[in-house]
Amino acid sequence: MDDIKIIHLPKYEDLRGNLSFIEEEDHIPFKIKRVYWIYDVPGGMRRGGHSFKIQQEFIVALSGSFDVEVSDGINNKTFQLNRSYYGLYVPAGYWREMNSFSTNSLALVISSTEFSENDYIREHSDFLKLRSL
Ligand code: TYD
Repeated sequence: MDDIKIIHLPKYEDLRGNLSFIEEEDHIPFKIKRVYWIYDVPGGMRRGGHSFKIQQEFIVALSGSFDVEVSDGINNKTFQLNRSYYGLYVPAGYWREMNSFSTNSLALVISSTEFSENDYIREHSDFLKLRSL
């Protein structure tokens, strides 16, 4: 699971506030095809319990905090995201879930693919089968 990693982004600080940015194939290792965001998550809700066959993604907590749990079917890792100047790179082929959303949190997801339901593995048992587990 060493290919799942926190990537720190540039951060320009001055008296007017901070600025960070992301450029494809520079700060993140893929071309950007889609950006979506998750917000207004009611307390205790979990999102994104699934795997992707092809999609790579980079997840940033633009506001507030939440946890990203990633699993290869055997090992699990949990990353707490709570700053907008770093994010989590998740390659294809892992099971990932987002939970523990704080009030008013805003999760930005930058994706390497356009939306395709065919790219999702939504059943955990199918995920384990694909990983030969
Ligand atoms: P889904 O990926 O299942 O949400 P999460 O992983 O956060 O639990 O997406 C929820 C719904 O939104 C689902 O019907 C598919 C749709 N959707 C799109 O149409 N386009 C998109 O880019 C995304 C991410 C989801």
